[in-house]
Amino acid sequence: METVLEVRGARHDYGATKALDGVDLDVGAGECVALLGPNGAGKTTLVNQIVGLLPHHGESVRVGGGDPRIAATRRQLGVVQQSLGFPTTLKVSELVTGAAVRAGKPRSAAGPVMAELDLTDLAGRRAVKLSGGQKQRLQLAMALVGDPRLLVLDEPTAGLDVPARKRFWQILAERRERGVGVLLTTHLIEESSAVADRVVVLDRGRVVAQGTPDELVARLPDRTVIARTGLALEQLQALPGVVSLRTDGDHVHLGTRTPEALLRVLLVQDPGLTGLRVEGAGLEEAVAGLIERGAA
Ligand SMILES: Nc1ncnc2c1ncn2[C@@H]1O[C@H](COP(=O)(O)OP(=O)(O)OP(=O)(O)O)[C@@H](O)[C@H]1O
Ligand SMILES: [Mg+2]
Repeated sequence: METVLEVRGARHDYGATKALDGVDLDVGAGECVALLGPNGAGKTTLVNQIVGLLPHHGESVRVGGGDPRIAATRRQLGVVQQSLGFPTTLKVSELVTGAAVRAGKPRSAAGPVMAELDLTDLAGRRAVKLSGGQKQRLQLAMALVGDPRLLVLDEPTAGLDVPARKRFWQILAERRERGVGVLLTTHLIEESSAVADRVVVLDRGRVVAQGTPDELVARLPDRTVIARTGLALEQLQALPGVVSLRTDGDHVHLGTRTPEALLRVLLVQDPGLTGLRVEGAGLEEAVAGLIERGAA
């Protein structure tokens, strides 16, 4: 697989803060890599180095073999930034057309991409007047119109409603089939598991774990199924996929990695069950769990 993004030993300091502390990362053609990490992990800093908005050192970042500080290299990139201010006077169609021209494409490339992103009816609207989700779609249109080899998307689904999110994943899948590499950042383990070929977990500027979604999920701390139940402790212990069991007042806490399978049997065995909750491991806990288990 051809490599479209290569990051080697990326570093960045903001004063005393080591935002990036030696990060390695590759994205191949057609591959989707999710960069997962809690707030402040360094995701946006890395994205900004990749897209040429922050300086990087030496040859630590290569896009299609080139340096993203050079305009010709940046033409291979489509970018969705985490926070982007649009110029106050420009309309949706002007921004998408401008992005096409900057990428060396004809102005006519804008129409089909706006249609794809459901922006045609908003073409004459000033970008600053759009809703959050509409702005995300506009950014994506501007990223796609240049036919990039690499899409770099910083929390691209933030603010998208469910249909827009679905459409967004469809569009990415189509681009990937044509060999476009994707790097996206997210806080959501579920999201990264669903879409990425590989997940890279970043924490305090370092890669603390990486692997396929399945590999990572298998190492995540357990979910907890919580309920009030009449079942005896031995019966609970024998349920499928229970890896830990404790009581808290009149509730039991069942640790598992397969809550659905567990719940199916639990609800049959105790039809009188009440107070049911399933708590997922949050990202902070998951990252802590991954580090604890020596995954770094
Ligand atoms: N312009 C800046 N000046 C000083 N420190 C900064 C600046 N931008 C980011 N930082 C710091 O660098 C670290 C990494 O920030 P970064 O924005 O890359 O994190 P992130 O993983 O994108 O977080 P989030 O999930 O909140 O978007 C944080 O400690 C942050 O406070
Ligand atoms: Mg960020």
